[in-house]
Amino acid sequence: MKAVQFSRYGGPEVLEILEINPPHPGPGEVRIAVRAAGVNPSDWKRREGRYRAFEEVSFPTGVGVEASGIVDGVGPGVSSTFVGDAVFGYGRGTMAEHAVLTHWVHKPDDLPFEIAGGLPVIAETAWRSLDEVGVKAGQTLLVSGAAGGIGSAVLQLARIRGITVIGTASAQKHDYLRELGAIPTTYGPDLADRVRQLAPEGIDAALDIVGSGIIPELIAIVGDAAHVLSVADFSAEEYGAKFSRGPPKDPEQVLADVARLHSKGLFRLHIDESFPLERTAQAQTVSAAGRVTGKLIISIP
Ligand SMILES: NC(=O)c1ccc[n+]([C@@H]2O[C@H](COP(=O)([O-])OP(=O)(O)OC[C@H]3O[C@@H](n4cnc5c(N)ncnc54)[C@H](OP(=O)(O)O)[C@@H]3O)[C@@H](O)[C@H]2O)c1
Repeated sequence: MKAVQFSRYGGPEVLEILEINPPHPGPGEVRIAVRAAGVNPSDWKRREGRYRAFEEVSFPTGVGVEASGIVDGVGPGVSSTFVGDAVFGYGRGTMAEHAVLTHWVHKPDDLPFEIAGGLPVIAETAWRSLDEVGVKAGQTLLVSGAAGGIGSAVLQLARIRGITVIGTASAQKHDYLRELGAIPTTYGPDLADRVRQLAPEGIDAALDIVGSGIIPELIAIVGDAAHVLSVADFSAEEYGAKFSRGPPKDPEQVLADVARLHSKGLFRLHIDESFPLERTAQAQTVSAAGRVTGKLIISIP
């Protein structure tokens, strides 16, 4: 089978499309014929070696942590999933024709493979961030970096929870933020002034999804570091704010919940661009440029 792999840290040029044997599902795992795999910033950060301090990599290594597809192998101890089932979830080396999933749920018929393959990471991160930042129905949340994958998910989950969201993005994406239920504003200098005009009664909590170095500014806007959380800025805790990281506590529950919300028309995912497996390096380059609206997908017809 074809798989995207790399054998040393570096730029997109270290990615190779190799012909390798399909992986075997271990206990409690399934193997799928991949139909779609979501592109995440962690893919190129890992490739660059940014995680080497806390994640051991044995080369050559695959790429990709989430996918949708059709089960074509079932590991020992798996009882409720069978060859031929359509599923989506978390796995390893998902940018390949076949990949192992470690946590998955059945994919509803009304959820396209392309969407399903891009849901796990953003849905779980958004869910966890909203839970951990401590914001409730009727309150107002500021989201820095609202138009990307996680931002798009946060906006929709917050709307469902009855939370008012002010989201930052460049001006051309403001209609997109409105469609997802948020009040848009631009990022950059004087953010506090713009936010005060939009929410004179104040901001109850803030999420930093970009890691653009604005934790102190967000704390000043909220007035309480305990209600400021970042998923992208490792320095957040130095200022008394929270930093949230995986692994997911209950991955199957999040996957089932987001599938149900999608079926009810309450959650959608905008696919900014879809790439064939052979163009994974280009997809990572687009992701690293930081302008993605919604999500990038590797699609295997
Ligand atoms: N801790 C965790 O558990 C966890 C889990 C998953 C991901 N992450 C991290 O979370 C971060 C976001 O992931 P993602 O998938 O949402 O990324 P993404 O989809 O690539 O985000 C792209 C978006 O960022 C926006 N953006 C760029 N600079 C901005 C700025 N200064 N202010 C506001 N918005 C800005 C862009 O909007 P414009 O084009 O309008 O600028 C674009 O729409 C990444 O660093 C990722 O590694 C953390």
